[in-house]
Amino acid sequence: MERLRRLRKTPLIRDMVAETQIKVKGLIYPIFVQWGSHIRQEVPSMPGVYRYSVDRLAELLDQVLQAGIGGVMVFGIPEKKDETGSDCQNPKGIAATAIRFIKDYCREKQKDLLVIADICLCEYTSHGHCGVLEQGDVANDASLPLHAQAALTAVQAGADMVAPSSMMDGVVNAIRNTLDQAGYTQIPIMGYSAKFASSFYGPFRDAADSAPQQGDRKSYQMDPRNGREALRELLADEQEGADILMVKPGLSYLDILAKARPLTLRPLAVYNVSGEYSMVKAAANAGMIDEKRIVTEILTAFFRAGADLVITYHALDYVRWQEGNHEPF
Ligand code: PBG
Repeated sequence: MERLRRLRKTPLIRDMVAETQIKVKGLIYPIFVQWGSHIRQEVPSMPGVYRYSVDRLAELLDQVLQAGIGGVMVFGIPEKKDETGSDCQNPKGIAATAIRFIKDYCREKQKDLLVIADICLCEYTSHGHCGVLEQGDVANDASLPLHAQAALTAVQAGADMVAPSSMMDGVVNAIRNTLDQAGYTQIPIMGYSAKFASSFYGPFRDAADSAPQQGDRKSYQMDPRNGREALRELLADEQEGADILMVKPGLSYLDILAKARPLTLRPLAVYNVSGEYSMVKAAANAGMIDEKRIVTEILTAFFRAGADLVITYHALDYVRWQEGNHEPF
């Protein structure tokens, strides 16, 4: 008989043989920033997640720096939207302003925090699509220079990394060329390489006010039925020079993450998206599940499946719970 229970006898021996650790420095917390003053407004569909105005961002940054997580991902909500999403190409736009504030604040506190700029047009366009429209569809090639300019603007504002999330073909290459030409050869790109057209983004679109006015994103985001194609997307981003590859969403796509792991030598990220967060929160708030244990189990699953980085709205909660010294499993 295989006596597998021998190594499960005590908490100590279980810890000694545990294969997976949740790496706090590998956690990235998404933040939503808008114009205005004194704003800290809870996102109705995401309990515990807030939209901040720049003048109150310091409160959130103190928590992030205290937690010691690796980075933040910045999402801006502009005052005015237009056809081309010009706010994200504007050095005085909301994203650039927030990034500049965050980097200044960290410098002042002498703390290091990786600031990642999400590069997409959907929060900034009047129609809510991730690129410019031509004959009712998102035009791929015409959208590329706009993404490249948005990336350059974010980097000039101080972003340490850019993460194109629109699923335009060739977007990583376009951004790499523009950054290199401007001398930013050392700024890494994290591709949202295999991003599916998912209903799990619903609460995010509330938070970022980015739902498409008409239609859906199925002509650019991936079909959830396609696993092999997801691997092609990941490898295409690798060839274009993405430094980190991402799978998104997380929980329903762990098979993609696990298959990607032996296919590439680059770091892998996974986005534990808004709908995944909101389902946990709703069940926890209804008293149906033990939130701490569930979140710990979910984060463990991402690292076990092969992620090096996890973008998650649970990041701050998770670290706070560690201070309470509770036993995860
Ligand atoms: C922008 C973007 C989206 C998310 C991250 N970047 C929304 C979308 O594609 O509609 C979703 C994140 C989440 O649901 O937490 N394109």
